[in-house]
Amino acid sequence: MFQHQVRNDKVKLIRENPCNPWLNIVMRIDVLTLFPEMFESPLGHSIIKRACEAGIVNIALTNIRDFAKGPHFKVDDKPYGGGPGMIMAPPPVFECYEHVCSLSPKKPKTIILTPQGSPFDHRKATELAAEDRLLFIAGRYEGFDERIRIGLDAEQISVGDYVLSGGELAAMVIIDAVIRLLPGALGDEDSAKDDSFSDSLLEYPQYTRPEDFRGMKVPDVLLSGNHAEIAKWRKEQAVERTKKQRPDLLD
Ligand code: ADE
Repeated sequence: MFQHQVRNDKVKLIRENPCNPWLNIVMRIDVLTLFPEMFESPLGHSIIKRACEAGIVNIALTNIRDFAKGPHFKVDDKPYGGGPGMIMAPPPVFECYEHVCSLSPKKPKTIILTPQGSPFDHRKATELAAEDRLLFIAGRYEGFDERIRIGLDAEQISVGDYVLSGGELAAMVIIDAVIRLLPGALGDEDSAKDDSFSDSLLEYPQYTRPEDFRGMKVPDVLLSGNHAEIAKWRKEQAVERTKKQRPDLLD
């Protein structure tokens, strides 16, 4: 399912698609990272796994360190002007990027994960889901040399106002949110439409069996079989919930 590029440029397939892995797919996603293994479990289950196996998306993981030179394959260095920590240096990132770009003719939409980026939300997920090819650069250390963003024409995205230890988890959050919006990724096409945020409202409350659980009953309207009443109730509940939990969404 995932492709791993290794230092000698040979491609190791973890789980191969039965057909040519890059033909007739809806989207190709490349991730440039120092920790490709981090992605395997979170992206190797359920909806994402099925989308990969159905050929809706292909995810290729490439280790930036495989493009580093010198005895220690260094990818970071001290910041000019001083300051704490180390930052990601341009050469291995550029070489890794150029190698990955050469694997497919379509120019990727390139995204750098950083807390300095613009906030990720449902609208951005929808925008990214319309692309053919996405390339994420997940960094570690104190951030990136500015020339990486400029030279690779990359958009900066943040998944929230807090600092993670690296961009990997942020990349996985975005990849998950984008893949579920790809045509055919969800078994039931309606389930993405009703998701929270798809119409600027949070999702209405849901219930399943049993009808009475420890004295907590399913609202009568949901048992009524009256579809118009159910739709009206759900809309009211969604508005109520949004007012209470996320009034900012209604502005
Ligand atoms: N890397 C570290 N923190 C991050 C965040 N909040 N969003 C995206 N990338 C990050």
